[in-house]
Order: sequence, then structure tokens, then C-alpha cells
Amino acid sequence: MTTDNRGELVLRVVPRLTEINSNGHIFGGWILSQMDIAGGIVAGRLARGAVATVAIDGMKFISPMLVGDVVAVYGREERRGRTSLGIRVDVVATRGVDQQEVDLTSGLFTFVALDEEHRPRVLPEG
Ligand SMILES: CC(C)(COP(=O)(O)OP(=O)(O)OC[C@H]1O[C@@H](n2cnc3c(N)ncnc32)[C@H](O)[C@@H]1OP(=O)(O)O)[C@@H](O)C(=O)NCCC(=O)NCCS
Repeated sequence: MTTDNRGELVLRVVPRLTEINSNGHIFGGWILSQMDIAGGIVAGRLARGAVATVAIDGMKFISPMLVGDVVAVYGREERRGRTSLGIRVDVVATRGVDQQEVDLTSGLFTFVALDEEHRPRVLPEG
């Protein structure tokens, strides 16, 4: 991924030691939850209200996340439907003293705008 197509920087987080799996890497589920949070922030702003995650497609774990990585989560609108938004979420680690950037994960999160009854709501213009 180039820096040009990453989208907006939504979150910057450091995983805690409790998130380590038996390989000594960070749990994929922890990364996924950060992506869902970041995608939800972007989708909620575009939908101007409540959204729910309805699907995650093309999820790729590209490289392992290591203890000490500083994690940046990027989001951008990739698809707009009647009630749903496809938000591309990419995760990049900054690693080590030389601040090397490593692509970690990418996925397309689909969020549905919700009304007061938690049913799909037509997205606002633009
Ligand atoms: C989100 C929810 C209200 C949608 O209800 P639904 O009856 O499936 O609604 P619809 O069939 O009208 O689909 C709504 C939109 O979602 C899209 N959608 C539904 N399932 C999808 C899937 N698997 N992949 C991609 N898009 C999907 C539809 O294409 C439609 O988009 P559009 O209006 O832009 O064309 C319902 O599925 C739900 O409550 N799911 C649980 C959400 C949740 O708890 N998420 C985790 C915590 S946030």
C-alpha cells in the first residue's frame, strides 16, 4: 500500500502485552476489533448517525504484528449503496528505532446506517 491510497488516519494505538498469542504475536482478533472501531468512526460520520457492521470482506493478514509496534488504522469510503457503506480499513505498523513502516492488515468493512428501530436507514446525500 502506498501512502497516497491509505485514506484518513483514524486511530493510533499500541497493543498491550495481554494481547499476545502463543506465537508471541498480537492476536488477530484484537487487530480486527481496532479495524471495526476505526471503520465505524468513518462510517458513522458519513452516515451522520448510528451504523452497524454487517460484513467484513477480503480480510487479509499480511504480516504479523509484533510487541512494540505502534499501530495506525486508516479508513476510506470505497463503496456507497442505498443504506450501506463499504469502508476500506488498512493497518500499518511503525516498528523499531528506524521507524520502519509495515503493512499489517486490510479489509473491506460494510456498515449499514440504522434508524431508531435499528432497521436500515437511507444514507444522507454526499
Ligand atoms: C444491519 C441489519 C440491520 C441489516 O438488516 P437487513 O435486513 O440485512 O437489511 P437489508 O437486507 O435491507 O440490507 C441493508 C444493506 O446491507 C447490505 N448488506 C446486507 N448484508 C450484506 C453482506 N453480507 N455484505 C455486504 N452488504 C450487505 C445490503 O446490500 C443493503 O445495502 P444497500 O441498501 O446499500 O443496498 C441487520 O443485518 C443486523 O442488525 N445485523 C446485525 C448487526 C450487528 O449486530 N453488527 C455487529 C455489531 S455493530
